[in-house]
Amino acid sequence: MKLITNQTNLKGTIEVPGDKSISHRSIMFGALAKGTTRIHHFLEAEDCLSTIEVFRKLGVKIERSDSEVVVHGVSGFQGLKKPESELYVGNSGTTIRLMMGILAGAQFDAVLTGDESIRKRPMNRVGIPLEKMGARIETKNDAGFAPVQLRGGNQLSGIHYEMPVASAQVKSAILFAALQAEGETVIHEKEKTRNHTEEMIRLFGGEIEEEGLTVKLSGNQSFTAQEVRVPGDISSAAFFIALGLLVPDSLIRLTNVGLNPTRTGILDVVEAMGGNLTKEASTFSGTIQVATSNLRGTTIEGSLIPRLIDELPIIALLATQAEGETVIRDAEELKVKETNRIDAVANELKKMGADITPTEDGLIIRGKTALHGAKVTSYGDHRIGMMLQIAALLVKEGEVELEKAEAVAVSYPDFFDVIESLID
Ligand code: S3P
Repeated sequence: MKLITNQTNLKGTIEVPGDKSISHRSIMFGALAKGTTRIHHFLEAEDCLSTIEVFRKLGVKIERSDSEVVVHGVSGFQGLKKPESELYVGNSGTTIRLMMGILAGAQFDAVLTGDESIRKRPMNRVGIPLEKMGARIETKNDAGFAPVQLRGGNQLSGIHYEMPVASAQVKSAILFAALQAEGETVIHEKEKTRNHTEEMIRLFGGEIEEEGLTVKLSGNQSFTAQEVRVPGDISSAAFFIALGLLVPDSLIRLTNVGLNPTRTGILDVVEAMGGNLTKEASTFSGTIQVATSNLRGTTIEGSLIPRLIDELPIIALLATQAEGETVIRDAEELKVKETNRIDAVANELKKMGADITPTEDGLIIRGKTALHGAKVTSYGDHRIGMMLQIAALLVKEGEVELEKAEAVAVSYPDFFDVIESLID
């Protein structure tokens, strides 16, 4: 696909689609609750639709209309029915990993599998703690590649678990297993990761203690249906934050953006880079306004990384347009995302003229460099595809041809239309 290039003066107000992490979890808790859950501003994108399809195969009735998704809960984990075929998660790491936790205590067998990318991502990070809790799981190899075969009929018990990686998906899978286990579970994280599962447990009437890096909960909990309002996804807003900062003479307002502090690392980075960004926040969401800025390099590391892990590709683009050096470290998790995002970002931005060096756990980027036309690929990764479209807007000479552009539908099906709508 030929990308839009060479833009100035992009102005507009955008409401980005619903948060992906919260949309997945609202289906999951809605399915497990007693009663009918209504979800507003649900993310109608491939990943979250995969979660809906998986629950339908498990016997949960879910209706979709333009304004809401309605989930008819089955009153607990044991209300889920044995699926007649494999459970296909498409490209969605959140679906497969959280479903492993949800199905760990089922009375029936089930198989979880997904697309080519999913079948190359490590599931053992979830399988290992779940087996310690009493689940029986078989995978294709030692890394735990899908298909994941879950054997039913086990009674789970609580666990005290020290997380070896900072991952909300792993933490959430353990939490789902813990909710159906005998006794107490305590999880200690390496770094604080997004706490949407913890928040949903509380919203649906369950109990969990969250203190610093430790979460504690007891088993055999039950949930009551809720009305859920999903805020806009800050990870999708991030592309338009970058657009507003980088495209000359631009001013972008983003409304109803989710501002959970475990997700707002990108706002801290923009501030450190000297970006012109203002925020009006209410409790959970707010409006962000950005205007074209002269940026400077910064260092991104440590506890900041999980707070912006999905935004690192677009932050790398910001760094190519900032004066001086930007160092991203402690981000080895990028290697096991939808694609190896360290290599993908470095390869593709280099093709466009950026000065960028991949390292074992991040990237070193020297700015500022003019970007030029090139033939690039998303590697089938939605966030790489969207980052490259924002990069293309800065290209003054030559064309940018993007392979595998359709990947953006994983989290933002209207992305290219929204870009077009900003151009008059
Ligand atoms: C997610 C957690 C993160 C993130 C992913 C969504 C979630 O993954 O990258 O896009 O919804 O829990 P990890 O847990 O692998 O870091």
